[in-house]
Amino acid sequence: MKNKPSDIRLGIFGFGCVGQGLYDVLQTIEAAGIEVAKICVKDKEKLRSLPSSAFTYNPQELLQDESITILAELISDAEDAYGIVKQALQAGKTIVSANKKMLATHLPELLELQQKYKGTLLYEAAVGGSIPIIRILESYYSSEPLQQVSGILNGSSNFILSKMEAEGLSYTCALQQAQELGFAEADPALDVGGFDSVNKLCLIIAHAFGVSVKPEQVLRFGIDSITEHDLKFAERIGARIRLVATAVVDSGDQLYVRVLPALVSEQSELYRVTNETNGVTIAPVFAGEQFLKGRGAGSHPTGSAVWADVSAALSGYRYVYPKADTRAIALSKEYKINLYLRCPSSLVLPAADFIELNKISESEGVAYYTASIESETLKSLSAYLAAERIFMAEITPAQAHNIALKNCNTEAVVYS
Ligand code: HSE
Repeated sequence: MKNKPSDIRLGIFGFGCVGQGLYDVLQTIEAAGIEVAKICVKDKEKLRSLPSSAFTYNPQELLQDESITILAELISDAEDAYGIVKQALQAGKTIVSANKKMLATHLPELLELQQKYKGTLLYEAAVGGSIPIIRILESYYSSEPLQQVSGILNGSSNFILSKMEAEGLSYTCALQQAQELGFAEADPALDVGGFDSVNKLCLIIAHAFGVSVKPEQVLRFGIDSITEHDLKFAERIGARIRLVATAVVDSGDQLYVRVLPALVSEQSELYRVTNETNGVTIAPVFAGEQFLKGRGAGSHPTGSAVWADVSAALSGYRYVYPKADTRAIALSKEYKINLYLRCPSSLVLPAADFIELNKISESEGVAYYTASIESETLKSLSAYLAAERIFMAEITPAQAHNIALKNCNTEAVVYS
């Protein structure tokens, strides 16, 4: 065990999937030279892989220990995580966090605290698992304007989608596997409902575009109402369904953000992103498009990202949010989205809400549509669509055209 006395003492909050992953990484990397002071956990009854002397149940034991050099907050409860990170920053400490929900909700306040008390907050492990996306946006693309950052940011939902499509697993069985493998959140509704991707997208946007976007401002729809009908439909048009997070800036500096299932064609890099892997496309103005792919969830990939943060923070690295205040980018609300929709044939969709709604086909009590709709209307309609277990996915205008061509019996319900 390399947990020998050292000048560098690390306090860890949480010993779940990520905490254990960090611990394993530290045990393996000889050069780490770090002493784990204590690990703070909540559950006194839970069986642990380390002796009880390694643990404390009192967060203050770590937060008030002046001999601790750096803290790692790796718990799943967003409120508790907020309390820990806030107190650490108010004391000017260095802390790394993997809690994307907490970070996306409180980022502006945490950055103010970081500035005021001269502490350090890093959170690479909160976005894209082992993909060093924040570091790349911060450092490499600090001075080149970006047009787009988009991709798959949730390992669990991608795992579910690929297991359903490749192995014919049921949604429930695939979700259970994602939970057993430690990919899913304590509340998996955060994964499959798209909330986790939204939180990660908000963090990306802060670094890529210098804009503060609140999670509730992001148009969001999840994959939880998907059935094999949708997978078959996607296959018929040569596509796969992925949960895609998108942030695009147009030439007028309007920012468009959303997390929606999408029908991705074979030409898309995302088509070949399977299981818990995440994949992110960065589109800089001059460098040309780049695609990063890597493990998006899991104990060791995420533990590795936490260790990268700990190590960087110890070398004095801090985020500078290089794009803040460089461009007058504004969050756009109204834009048109093209969709695929599937629902029971007995259901009458609220046609007046759509710009266009075309029934593509109908069989065995299931109706398939293509549609276009204003983003704000879709946002207000999404709770109704989710409650009715309707599935929808974004399609490109070219896909909408091809679907119409392949289904000559298209019946125009609304056209304006
Ligand atoms: N539940 C998350 C996911 C864990 O599935 O992507 C990694 O952030």
